[in-house]
Amino acid sequence: AGFFFINRGETFNESILNTEVPLKNSQKGKETKLPIPPILKDKNPEEGKAEFDLKVQNGRTEFFEDQKTDTLGYNGNYLGPIIKVNKGDEVKINVNNTLDESTTMHWHGLEVPGEMDGGPHQGIEPQSTWSPSFTINQPAATLWYHPHLLDKTGEQVYKGLAGLFYIEDENSTKLDIPKNHGINDIPLVVQDKRFTEDGDIPYELDMRDTMDGFMGDTILINGAISPELDVKNELVRLRILNGSNARAYDFNFSDNATFYQIASDGGFLEKSVEMTNVTLAPAERAEILVDFSKYKSGDKVTFRDTENNIMTINIIEESTEKTEVPKELVEIPKYDKGKIVRSREFIMSGSGPMVTINGKQMDMNRIDEELKLNELEEWVVSNESSGGMGMMSSSPHPFHVHGTQFQIIERNGGKPPLNEQGWKDTVMVKSNEEVKLLVNFKEKGLFMYHCHILEHEDSGMMGQFIVK
Ligand code: C2O
Ligand code: CU
Ligand code: CU
Repeated sequence: AGFFFINRGETFNESILNTEVPLKNSQKGKETKLPIPPILKDKNPEEGKAEFDLKVQNGRTEFFEDQKTDTLGYNGNYLGPIIKVNKGDEVKINVNNTLDESTTMHWHGLEVPGEMDGGPHQGIEPQSTWSPSFTINQPAATLWYHPHLLDKTGEQVYKGLAGLFYIEDENSTKLDIPKNHGINDIPLVVQDKRFTEDGDIPYELDMRDTMDGFMGDTILINGAISPELDVKNELVRLRILNGSNARAYDFNFSDNATFYQIASDGGFLEKSVEMTNVTLAPAERAEILVDFSKYKSGDKVTFRDTENNIMTINIIEESTEKTEVPKELVEIPKYDKGKIVRSREFIMSGSGPMVTINGKQMDMNRIDEELKLNELEEWVVSNESSGGMGMMSSSPHPFHVHGTQFQIIERNGGKPPLNEQGWKDTVMVKSNEEVKLLVNFKEKGLFMYHCHILEHEDSGMMGQFIVK
């Protein structure tokens, strides 16, 4: 509060609030090929059990040729490996913090008890290890993990702490979709950075960053700048995570190719959704299928954010395999509105460091909402942020809930778009919008809800609820 003061009528307001940081195009990074994060080795040979080791460490990463950048990573210099588990697995993960500062490890999208969730209450001190264990009790999905230290999430994620978390189940195994990791099943962690001349990525917030969140001018995919991905002319599955602190993306292909979204945050959609662009707010995921069979060997397509080229896709080989996009994917048990026990409102408002939910900022010692296990609730989430003080700002807030996947039943009074009709854990709510969701908690404990613009979260745009 009172971080800076804006006089009415000052002219910087509008440009600061309404102009996104423009992207620098055609930069060349050191990695020319898209790096594929490895699948982390499961140490437990027993069927139905899995154990993983993750080391949180300092790193040095060469994003640009001959320039080393100080970064953070899990089991490496930057980002982390993919944790892959099966539904029903009993999982143990040993998170060893070798940094000289505290961190936490949050499983974004996992439905686990509060004390395993890795929120701000589960700090991992320097040189210590936290070993949560839980059972996977939710459908196949592309989730992710990242730190969640109070007031420090933005910085630690920005420096490189994030990784993907795959759940597989009988449906994902049965479905006739690409499953060959790194070949036709491609993880894409998309982030933006702001490099200094020496290639550093200091996390220093200017006035604009404190308003709308930290945005970079350079896009990285799996840690590479403008990389190339080689594929056969076949069906390819892209698992996209918006792992940026604040930037939202509108993904599409240079030739306006049609693709099919098959999964949202928490798993497969009921039917694949045909589209030519998909928007993702920070923390949202989408799995899409792209049919490259209409291209010939030697063709190139670019993967873009709006009009910015962020990855080149080279079709390098003709495939003989015929693949079709499945229309029907899974059946999602839809919550019954008639069973709603309670309705709650979450009003997001304010701007910059003054952002709030229901007029409050995060307090570790205050529990904002109390819920009961297995009771269906309707949450009405709205965005009244307007910048205040006479400024006209559109301040979008991606609202995220821990410990559950929810169902969106209404967006601005109407049905949500088809690709929001599956399991979600994060939903974009723009200024003056209202979204209704149905939520039901299967696990007890203390959890967070917050805006996933990490600078808003760190400013206090977060609340706590307890499930009893
Ligand atoms: Cu991605 Cu509170 O988390
Ligand atoms: Cu989360
Ligand atoms: Cu926000």
